[in-house]
Amino acid sequence: DSDVVDTDVLIVGSGPAGASAALFLSTLGVDNIMITKYRWTANTPRAHITNQRSMEIFRDMGIEDQVLADATPHDLCGDTVFCTSIAGEEIGRIHTWGTRPDREADYQLASPCLIVDIPQTYLEPILVRNATVRGTQSRFSTEYLAHTQDAEGVTTRVRDRLTGQEYTIRSRYLIGADGARSMVAADIDLPYEGKMDIAGSMNITFKADISQLVDHRPSVLYWVIQPGSNVGGIGTGLVRMVRPWNEWLIVWGYDITEEPPTLDDAAATKIVRDLLGMPDLEPEITGYSLWGVNEMYATHLQQGRVFAAGDAIHRHPPSNGLGSNTSVQDSYNLAWKIAAVLRGQADPSLLESYSAERAPVAKRIVTRANTSAREFADIFDALGVVGLDGEDMAAAIEERKANTPEGAAKRAALVKAMDTKNYEFNAHGVELGQFYESGAIVSDGTRPAPTTDADLYHRMSTSPGAHLPHAWVGNNVEKRAMLDLAPYDRWTLLTGVAGEDWATAAESVAAEFGIPLETVVIGPGHEVTDLYYDWSKLREVQESGALLVRPDKHVAWRAMTLPDDPAGDLRGALRTLLGRS
Ligand code: FDA
Repeated sequence: DSDVVDTDVLIVGSGPAGASAALFLSTLGVDNIMITKYRWTANTPRAHITNQRSMEIFRDMGIEDQVLADATPHDLCGDTVFCTSIAGEEIGRIHTWGTRPDREADYQLASPCLIVDIPQTYLEPILVRNATVRGTQSRFSTEYLAHTQDAEGVTTRVRDRLTGQEYTIRSRYLIGADGARSMVAADIDLPYEGKMDIAGSMNITFKADISQLVDHRPSVLYWVIQPGSNVGGIGTGLVRMVRPWNEWLIVWGYDITEEPPTLDDAAATKIVRDLLGMPDLEPEITGYSLWGVNEMYATHLQQGRVFAAGDAIHRHPPSNGLGSNTSVQDSYNLAWKIAAVLRGQADPSLLESYSAERAPVAKRIVTRANTSAREFADIFDALGVVGLDGEDMAAAIEERKANTPEGAAKRAALVKAMDTKNYEFNAHGVELGQFYESGAIVSDGTRPAPTTDADLYHRMSTSPGAHLPHAWVGNNVEKRAMLDLAPYDRWTLLTGVAGEDWATAAESVAAEFGIPLETVVIGPGHEVTDLYYDWSKLREVQESGALLVRPDKHVAWRAMTLPDDPAGDLRGALRTLLGRS
């Protein structure tokens, strides 16, 4: 049939999930086509907070510099303000995204990368460009219509929106990265929990140079509490930096049980003026749209040869900045597995671990983001504005200044309520603490003991299922992060000087299985040494022990010491991990 195009993997969507799946597959040399409905990538700024794991992934892909070049740097991200308007009074500030000195230490110790801000309008082109340069066939203005699957592959019907012509793409696998209204996920009937459209929200983008009001308290986020801000939306009014300090995005709520508000230039201008507290400002309104806040996640992510990733499987408000990050991380989990199965290195059952590993993450982030949005109620409670509007609300906010018992009570309540926002803005445990339990992990029955607060703090561990801990290692001319030792295109066995014998064992087992597997010995006399003696304290295994690290940097298996038959033990682990007999 002349209208059938063949590929190994068809990706539907060029957002953070789809474009990164394309990039990862192309980096691994897997043939892929990425189709997307529109003529280019995201046309509004959307997600922006880019967390450490995503930056680590971009580092692994060799595009960290490109992302940093277009990002607002870490040190301009974190003086998050709560105020009655940008020009109005401050209610308080909170250091966010790991910028408070004590938290900065946690963040720096856990990763070679820090959180930065890059709007989707800047990130997606970087992902698409690199994917395409590395081999992806990118088809814009191309719409997914339907698919069927059989034992050998997937047959997908698509439409070229320019010509209206329909054609068929035959692939071994299909990834539905087609966003919150995913047709692919619907077509494979994925099970979901939760609800869509639980609150009404609007985005307004505009240009106005307001440097004089913000550059002494640089932040990505300025939260506004004023009459109307406790209705719908994502907690309260938000003025979000898109580019410092002249491009912005406002998020403002509306009551979803009522008729949606009419948005036009005049209405948008009024909201901008109110939130900025600048009644005479003439902002350049660049766009506006209404959207619904969702609280929904899929509990299973695959059917046969078809997978869903990104917002297709987790739908939630932007609180905690997890949307785009989790989407990129879904694809990072999936792409190497597909490559391993396509190359015959692993049994197709490896692919089932995608759902086992990522569905719990979807649930966790959807729950966290929605809880964070709801926790703004603590601040409203502290200010005593619940159920109030207009003048009454303004008066209640004003009362925090009073030298009265009521004023004192409000001030004390605010101290507590502001602290709660750490769960939205410094939730290091949620950002980094993804622990996998699946057939692609050989558990040794251990799991990192939870810290005092598993949402706020990340505990590094080498328990199988955990992410490889970070430390700086290297030699007299080169400083490397632990993750640099375990690139995406192979498995890596990490050991110390007393474990040198693992290297020959690994070499023979790698040849037997036909998989890329390298041993890295860390210690004096080797290319990589434990520069700061941090790794020795983090590795949890003896110097002669070993950690088997997957391409996505999760520890798959570990040996506490060098056994009598290292090749035998390693072979046993890989058999289980790869589903090989
Ligand atoms: P995403 O939605 O980005 O991409 C879906 C892709 O699928 C698109 O490329 C689309 O063209 C394609 N597609 C859809 N249907 C198709 C079909 N039938 N055929 C072919 N292609 C198809 N998050 C945040 O943290 N802060 C924020 O401020 C915002 N703001 C925001 C505003 C708006 C308007 C939206 C829509 C979303 C946000 N988000 C956000 C959420 C954030 O954008 C989201 O989490 C990520 O984009 C998810 O990435 P995905 O790649 O999964 O989907």
